[in-house]
Amino acid sequence: MTSSVTFEKINEVKFNMDNIYDQPDPRSYFQELRKFDYSIPDVAKPVFQKLISGLRRERHHTIHILDLGCSYGVNSALLKHDLSMDDLYEHWNHEKLADATPEEVIQHDRRFFSDLRETADIEVIGIDQSKNAIACAEEIGLLNEGLVLNLETEALPPAAKEGLAPVDLMISTGCVGYVTEKSFERLLPAVTQDTQPWIANFVLRMFPFDAIEQTLSEWGYTTEKLDGQTFVQRQFASDDEQQQVLEQLRQKGIDPTGKEAEGQLLAEFFLSRPAKEAAARPIEELALA
Ligand SMILES: C[S@@+](CC[C@H](N)C(=O)[O-])C[C@H]1O[C@@H](n2cnc3c(N)ncnc32)[C@H](O)[C@@H]1O
Repeated sequence: MTSSVTFEKINEVKFNMDNIYDQPDPRSYFQELRKFDYSIPDVAKPVFQKLISGLRRERHHTIHILDLGCSYGVNSALLKHDLSMDDLYEHWNHEKLADATPEEVIQHDRRFFSDLRETADIEVIGIDQSKNAIACAEEIGLLNEGLVLNLETEALPPAAKEGLAPVDLMISTGCVGYVTEKSFERLLPAVTQDTQPWIANFVLRMFPFDAIEQTLSEWGYTTEKLDGQTFVQRQFASDDEQQQVLEQLRQKGIDPTGKEAEGQLLAEFFLSRPAKEAAARPIEELALA
């Protein structure tokens, strides 16, 4: 069985939110996810910030980030600005916006984000299969560049290759599971043209990471998992979803007692770096420092 088939089966137990991923503005995405206290970009933020600092110390330039499954530029909004998910939930829930057209929302967002101070010297390219989310993120100014791509089903267009050469750090939150090793296989030739980026993925515990790890190892990467740490992705959407996920975890040999059994979907953090760099500095020193 290929990973995409395995992941499809695992995804069947997850509450389906596909309807909010491709709307003409970010309101539905944030209004729906707020109900489940979706928080993985928030808890990932300090880890990504530490990696950015670590990379800056070594590379001495603006850090170029590629966010896979970036949606409306969520990680970019948090990393570029002094904002939390609560701030974004509040922003896109604003009563004044209730009757606004998508165009008015985007104009308002553009002003809102351009008035905010940028707190990090980063540039963010985002990839997502959602045309609307990428268009919004680019128009609002949250992405320096957006690529509408589903690398599970299509090759990386040759024109996109050059723009991905400077990538220092690839990140993802809430995306592995929708994407498999196929997307990584298609990205690696492009992102490793200059220097090899670090690759940082937050992955729900029910999705195996081994096939992605294997693909990355063929490109000289060592993958480490941050041991003993879980990160809250969101509340379960229903008892039924929780029961099915607990069953999936048990089948995978993972004990959910005191973890998902308490009511939240949990992710783990995987960091993949060129073997030499991974050997020189342990993940704990970088991600927890
Ligand atoms: C749960 S959302 C996570 C978005 C964002 N990273 C966050 O944490 O808020 C999953 C995203 O993955 C995107 N996605 C799903 N399948 C994809 C694929 N095959 N290729 C690219 N993006 C995909 C969806 O459009 C959606 O924006």
